[in-house]
Amino acid sequence: MKKIVVFGSGNGSNFQAIAEYFKYKNVEIVCVSDKKDAYILKRAEKLGIKNFYVAFENTEGFLNDNEFDLIVLAGYMRIFPEEIFKERRIVNIHPSLLPKYKGINAIKRAYEAKEDYTGISVHFVEKEVDSGELLAQALVKIEKDMTLEELEAEIHRQEHILYPQVIEKLLLEGAE
Ligand code: GRF
Repeated sequence: MKKIVVFGSGNGSNFQAIAEYFKYKNVEIVCVSDKKDAYILKRAEKLGIKNFYVAFENTEGFLNDNEFDLIVLAGYMRIFPEEIFKERRIVNIHPSLLPKYKGINAIKRAYEAKEDYTGISVHFVEKEVDSGELLAQALVKIEKDMTLEELEAEIHRQEHILYPQVIEKLLLEGAE
């Protein structure tokens, strides 16, 4: 059985989509947050998924004690030190068409720039933030009459479809 860990600091809607996608697929999921009261941990509790609060400074120890086939970041608002990602496969999802709009408020910045399109990107985590090898992207059209809230909802909807599929592909490939 494959085993993955999903790290998040907040809402956890991507974690929930991943958990639901893999429910009957022989993949064990563990959920970790660096915030004790993050909603992602409550979601895990409700879904009956093992979950842990792990202070950021204890992350490397946690990952040394627990082996995973893949580390998945989903709204994890911390930057791992190099020792953590050097020898491990870590993926992240970002709400823009990277390399555009790296960093925070990516959806809002694309919206305010009146882009015709924005989107989502799944990528390996490397030293520089939001810069690792791209694994998949999806386009989201910014319709003329769309509100920012509507755009955010559409982006999240598409994240929930794309991310589990990319994770599954990586697990099947066992790729480096
Ligand atoms: C997502 O939009 C993701 O792209 C970004 O952080 C957000 C996390 O949302 N990295 P959630 O916690 O999964 O609901």
